[in-house]
Amino acid sequence: MPRKREDYFYRKAKKEGYRSRASYKLQQINAKYNVIRPDNIVVDLGAAPGGWLQVAKEISGGFVMGIDIQEIEPIEGVENLLGDITDPSTLKKIQGLIENMGGADVVICDASPNLSGNWSLDHARSIGLCNSALKIAINILKPDGNFVVKVFQGDMFSNFLAAVKKHFRFTKAYGPKASRKESAEIYVIGKGFF
Ligand SMILES: C[S@@+](CC[C@H](N)C(=O)[O-])C[C@H]1O[C@@H](n2cnc3c(N)ncnc32)[C@H](O)[C@@H]1O
Repeated sequence: MPRKREDYFYRKAKKEGYRSRASYKLQQINAKYNVIRPDNIVVDLGAAPGGWLQVAKEISGGFVMGIDIQEIEPIEGVENLLGDITDPSTLKKIQGLIENMGGADVVICDASPNLSGNWSLDHARSIGLCNSALKIAINILKPDGNFVVKVFQGDMFSNFLAAVKKHFRFTKAYGPKASRKESAEIYVIGKGFF
């Protein structure tokens, strides 16, 4: 079954012109939690190859930018920035690009570490990326802004969720149907930044 589902979303992405099957995860998250709305300023961390950027641009139609350590092939109307989200200089660069807009409405992060196959190491690396994403979100979100971040589950998950709760009025962990069934990933949604 899981493989069948993988094939289904993979083929669907090819057919519909999305760069990754991950596009459907963001669509499902947004259908349920309405995190991105028309005209929103959206910052996507760990955005290559750009499937989430395509979906974010479709929903928002406004300013959308993607950051990754890998090159992102250009998407019309989307800004790309080469950068490491764990490097403080990347936060400064993002701030420089959006400061004249008053900040971001939404920060989304689907960043994944290079998987080693060692569950606790991969979990720790994922939490490291999540903390970097949360730090960026806290520094660039407008009041009431929204946040979505992928986490590989493990024993540090509850601490991370608690850290998100300190800054958002509503938080939820959600597993979209487009995620592979055997995957350890879950998405933390934070709405109403304060
Ligand atoms: C699963 S992919 C993202 C897929 C994307 N959401 C899409 O729909 O096309 C994870 C990405 O995280 C990026 N990444 C991992 N560590 C990063 C870091 N420290 N800074 C920026 N990007 C990072 C990887 O290069 C990779 O492109």
